[in-house]
Amino acid sequence: MAWFLGNLRYVAWTSVAIASLFLIFFAMGVGSWGFDTQAFWEAALRWLHVLTAIMWIGHLYYFNFTQIPNMPKIPDEQKPAVTKVIAPAALFWFRWGAMATLVTGVSLAFNQGYLLQAYTLGAVPFDGGVPFTDNKVILIGIGMWLATIMWFNVWFIIWPNQQKALNIDNKYPTLEASAKAAAGKTAMLFSRTNTFLSAPMLVAMTGASTLF
Ligand code: HEM
Repeated sequence: MAWFLGNLRYVAWTSVAIASLFLIFFAMGVGSWGFDTQAFWEAALRWLHVLTAIMWIGHLYYFNFTQIPNMPKIPDEQKPAVTKVIAPAALFWFRWGAMATLVTGVSLAFNQGYLLQAYTLGAVPFDGGVPFTDNKVILIGIGMWLATIMWFNVWFIIWPNQQKALNIDNKYPTLEASAKAAAGKTAMLFSRTNTFLSAPMLVAMTGASTLF
């Protein structure tokens, strides 16, 4: 078994393959949903959305609860193991996890027919509806906005500043130490902001399908 479990690619791809078979079996074998039904794609997108969100928020929490608080305890000569190896690798899964979460989340809202209604927080009602009266789209819209702001922070503030702070891919070889420190501080503050937004975002995200 070690030949299998020792290889991350085998484990990750087999896990996804088994999950896909589960989905297809329960949707088409047990249920009566085909590839052409909205319900099948809603189930598939929900699964992919939560899977990719774990990848993103898992890394966000790793940075905030594990890496950042423990960096001061690491001797200076050992810090490059984290800043040159672990952090750049974690940032890869973090930012692409964020991108995949946004894409699957927007697709999920589109699939359920409320993308515009949610992003306008109910200002644009469904046909024949009254503005600002549909609590489900208002709540999921709040969650979608909070998560979209978090996604923006990842791609346009945290990632560019981390590239400077850690000189990732040697993009900033001549940047001064003070500029690197400032970039690192900005990245940390926005990462902390995302941690702060994450719990309210998630209550809106998960509550929308159960409360209404
Ligand atoms: C980046 C922008 C995001 C968008 C546009 C988005 C959009 C959505 C939509 C439309 C739903 C379906 C709600 C429903 O009708 O039941 C949903 C559900 C959900 N989202 Fe997001 N989301 C985003 C980010 C996130 C993040 C960062 C997380 C973090 C964990 C997350 C976790 C969830 C969960 C757990 C559900 C509930 C699934 C269920 O109840 O079956 N989403 N999201």
